[in-house]
Amino acid sequence: IDITSLRAVTGGYITLDSGYKNTGSCESAVTFLDGEKGILRYRGYTIEELAEKADFLEVAYLLIFGDLPKKEQLDKFHEDIKRNSLVDEDIHKILDAFPKAAHPMGVLSSLTSALTAFNPGSVDVTSEQDMYNSVVRILGKFPVLVAWTMRKKSGLPLDYGDKSLGYVENILKMMFKVPNEEYTQNPILVNALDKLLILHADHEQNCSTSTVRITGSSHAGLFASLSAGISALWGPLHGGANQAVLEMLEAIKEDGGDTKKYMAKAKDKNDPFRLMGFGHRVYKNFDPRARIIKKAADEVLGDLGVEDPILDIAKGLEKEALEDQYFVDRKLYPNVDFYSGIIYRAMGIPTEMFTVMFALGRLPGWIAQWREMRLRKEPIGRPRQLYIGETERSFEPISER
Ligand code: ACO
Repeated sequence: IDITSLRAVTGGYITLDSGYKNTGSCESAVTFLDGEKGILRYRGYTIEELAEKADFLEVAYLLIFGDLPKKEQLDKFHEDIKRNSLVDEDIHKILDAFPKAAHPMGVLSSLTSALTAFNPGSVDVTSEQDMYNSVVRILGKFPVLVAWTMRKKSGLPLDYGDKSLGYVENILKMMFKVPNEEYTQNPILVNALDKLLILHADHEQNCSTSTVRITGSSHAGLFASLSAGISALWGPLHGGANQAVLEMLEAIKEDGGDTKKYMAKAKDKNDPFRLMGFGHRVYKNFDPRARIIKKAADEVLGDLGVEDPILDIAKGLEKEALEDQYFVDRKLYPNVDFYSGIIYRAMGIPTEMFTVMFALGRLPGWIAQWREMRLRKEPIGRPRQLYIGETERSFEPISER
């Protein structure tokens, strides 16, 4: 059979890999991940070292531009971000139009996409300078949108931030400042949020990052590509897991705190229940981020003096899962989302905002991957399929069906 007729029958040779478990979609120099050994490095630096020694803005610079910034570079980057942090008042009107019960991820995705309409020049990116302008614009405006979505939920008037503060300090103030009340920074919260954002900052070609890259590959603008990524992150099998973990822990508590009952449900193949926060597509070993965050959770709760029965349930589940043959055989370890929700809860962040906090952390990674894709002039992403539908049929008029 010659190739032309084979193509006519099959539509071409297709490599079928559902869920892209074993398909590389691009070459990338941003993040190295070895799931078997539990290694994660951004631009060559281990996540352990970055979480301990760097701050989030430094890590954002590293991911996006490839090297750690010198002091003057970081200062200029921060100044440019601050100069671009104003959000158009008409975006405020769009926010007002959402019902209060709207999920913050839907609001955030819509507002991020709407930024394109207010910054039309951000779409046609032809030079590195255009790219830089889009990057500092979104790093300036995104935290404002994040804080606004939370303030809308809590019924607080919008806050426009304080340019004299550090990037993460300003985010916390924009989220929590209550009018006519003194606001004092809590260094424990600043440090904890900084660490959480660093741990979430990139994770190579995960679902949302692949979405950003493939959307951007059609030369849609950065903000539209990020909006698509936010929607992908929303799902409970991806970023939405941190909200799902807390909801699961609360449900177990309400049900009397019997963790063994839920372990049994998770193992029952006739029960759709899964232990949220366990398992990972790539890590078949302990997620290195989970190790760091577990320690941070203990410290933050200790420092803040939080006694939380939810944490006891989480610890119980973790212990049982690590000793259970079902979980051991399938290499299902707690992932980063298992612990992040516990810290966010201790910080006073509402459960529905957890995935928004993940998006805030992942922003530099999405930007770095989008920038790399555009600089490498990657072609439009366009997977094929294996067609399994009907062969050719003739149309029957409706009266004869
Ligand atoms: N609870 C119970 N069983 C599980 C779980 C779980 N959390 N996760 C996987 N399994 C089982 C599956 O039933 C399957 O069992 P089988 O081999 O007997 O059929 C086996 O482990 C392999 O699972 P898959 O779904 O094939 O693994 P995959 O790599 O496709 O999925 C995923 C990974 C989506 C993370 C999955 O483990 C899961 O649903 N976890 C819970 C949700 C979660 O925590 N998501 C956050 C991921 S981290 C992140 O996005 C930052």
